[in-house]
Amino acid sequence: MALRAQSVQNKLVGYGLKMELSLFDSSQSQEVIELFTKVFSTSEGETEGQLIGNLVSELIATTEPQDLIGFVSISGGDIVGSILFSRLDVPGEKIAFILSPVAIATNEQGKGKGQQLINYGISHLKSLSVDMVFTYGDPNFYSKVGFNPISESIVKAPLKLTYPEGWLAQSLDGSSIKAMEGTSHCVEALNDQKYW
Ligand SMILES: CC(C)(COP(=O)(O)OP(=O)(O)OC[C@H]1O[C@@H](n2cnc3c(N)ncnc32)[C@H](O)[C@@H]1OP(=O)(O)O)[C@@H](O)C(=O)NCCC(=O)NCCS
Repeated sequence: MALRAQSVQNKLVGYGLKMELSLFDSSQSQEVIELFTKVFSTSEGETEGQLIGNLVSELIATTEPQDLIGFVSISGGDIVGSILFSRLDVPGEKIAFILSPVAIATNEQGKGKGQQLINYGISHLKSLSVDMVFTYGDPNFYSKVGFNPISESIVKAPLKLTYPEGWLAQSLDGSSIKAMEGTSHCVEALNDQKYW
């Protein structure tokens, strides 16, 4: 399926600030890589910050355009949040993407912007007829935006999971997620055990 970059802009008024949510554009690459590096360095330490910054850089550089879709939150002219979804090839006909990673600027966290950005991205994927979205992270946080734990007996993760309880999914096409025979495949940038 061709996922064409549509010009989508949505101005939202939230928490007293005018927040603009839009599709990520490659001209924003450097700013987005810096945002991820900085946010994860602050929350998880310098090494993790570099790791995630490199992941984002690789995702942007090596993923086919139809397999990567990103979004940014802009406030006061600055990118204060970003999220990337990349294609996850699952057995069968369903179209799936995986959310990884997402970041909100450190001083903007805890005000609802993360959930707003994730929901925006997911509704955009839905409009592109994506059937399901996966992620790998904290179930307590991601359950707030519609994700549920999924067993690998239903859909196998592309690599070995260090925290199987962090394997999460949600259906976007109204049907429940049925067991799939076979393995799933992520894009090259994510295809490294250190992220799993
Ligand atoms: C995780 C993140 C994207 C959430 O965005 P946010 O704008 O801070 O979150 P929101 O304000 O929309 O939602 C807040 C809720 O999520 C919870 N939450 C926020 N960050 C969390 C985290 N890292 N783990 C678990 N729960 C978290 C809060 O406890 C809060 O719950 P409550 O409403 O019940 O009190 C953001 O905090 C961030 O960038 N963190 C650092 C990077 C990161 O951990 N990214 C996710 C992994 S890829």
